Amino acid sequence: MKQFLITGGAGFIGSNFIRYMLDKHSDIKIINLDKLTYAGNLENLKDVESDSRYRFVKGDICDGSLVDSLVQESDVVVNFAAESHVDRSIGKPDDFIQTDIFGTFQLLEASRKHGVDRFIQISTDEVYGSIDKGLFEETDPLMPSSPYSASKTGADRLVYSYYVTYDLPILITRASNNYGPYQYPEKLISLFVTNAIEGKPLPIYGDGLNVRDWLYVADHCSAIDFVLDNGKIGEVYNVGGGNEKTNLEITDLILKTLNKPDTLKTFIKDREGHDRRYALSIQKIKELGWQPEYIFEDAIIETITWYQENREWWEKLKNGEYLDYYKSHYNQDL
Ligand code: NAD
Ligand code: TYD
Repeated sequence: MKQFLITGGAGFIGSNFIRYMLDKHSDIKIINLDKLTYAGNLENLKDVESDSRYRFVKGDICDGSLVDSLVQESDVVVNFAAESHVDRSIGKPDDFIQTDIFGTFQLLEASRKHGVDRFIQISTDEVYGSIDKGLFEETDPLMPSSPYSASKTGADRLVYSYYVTYDLPILITRASNNYGPYQYPEKLISLFVTNAIEGKPLPIYGDGLNVRDWLYVADHCSAIDFVLDNGKIGEVYNVGGGNEKTNLEITDLILKTLNKPDTLKTFIKDREGHDRRYALSIQKIKELGWQPEYIFEDAIIETITWYQENREWWEKLKNGEYLDYYKSHYNQDL
């Protein structure tokens, strides 16, 4: 039995990953360490709660003694825990620096002290910054441009330094924008789908021509699992879906699928430091033997249907402080 410590497992990707791993592997046990910030939600994991291989611990990855005791009993650490939303990082970067960098440091320190078989850092394509043409490769310079991506870059390189300096068996994945079930309704697809269902405006920043590469969350989960088994220690692997779309293309697709009027499209001021385009080469992980399985056109419909069928999951999340912040920052109701 391999013991996994998965941090941030109550969030969007972490909860999908826990479900994926419990379904796929019978010989693993999982501890999910999550602080349950606004983005952490135990409802994401209701169906695995009673699985004897799964245990939830409420706590902070910045808490050194808690992290130490959990890493001590673990073979593999998978670090998803982070503050993850660019707009929030523009409004208040504090928690990003604390969790994304200092929290990762605490996990690394405990992993070095106790020795683990693998430490995998869930990094992001945003560490590269924006690219007008072509694709980023793993060896390209890192030029993050938001407090979110800068804090993730700090963590990414700190993890690497523990390999070079202390021989910690680390791996790093840098994935593109994920979409799928259980995504907090603040990111482009989850926000726009839920707003459209409610007949509310879809607030498009700037000219709407910024480009993101979209990766279905189940493909991200299979890539992490694959890298854990096959990745070379100390290496970074890009994980992309090969689906570059402008924000306007995504918006049009959502409106068309839900049969909602074009008048919901609302152009508002641009995000500060808004990266124009993210695009990744996935040649390296392809050569190792992984590639995405899901077709964007099908998986996006499945995703939209999931939000239609799980209204009670997201309705209660769309309230509170962030809506006030968004309104004062963008002069727009969500
Ligand atoms: P999310 O915001 O949905 O979830 C983050 C989780 O981390 C939440 O459950 C939250 O409670 C927990 N958390 C936050 N601070 C914590 C702390 N101090 N201690 C313990 N738990 C804490 O994020 P997500 O979209 O699922 O992203 C997960 C990871 O994947 C992040 O590291 C993110 O940078 C990375 N990533 C995300 C994307 C994407 O498109 N969403 C793409 C590439 C990489
Ligand atoms: P987001 O989902 O926040 O991810 P990223 O980390 O890539 O910024 O945003 C994806 C794109 O959608 C990005 O170009 C910003 C844009 N966007 C809007 O136009 N309006 C919105 O309300 C949001 C949340 C995002």
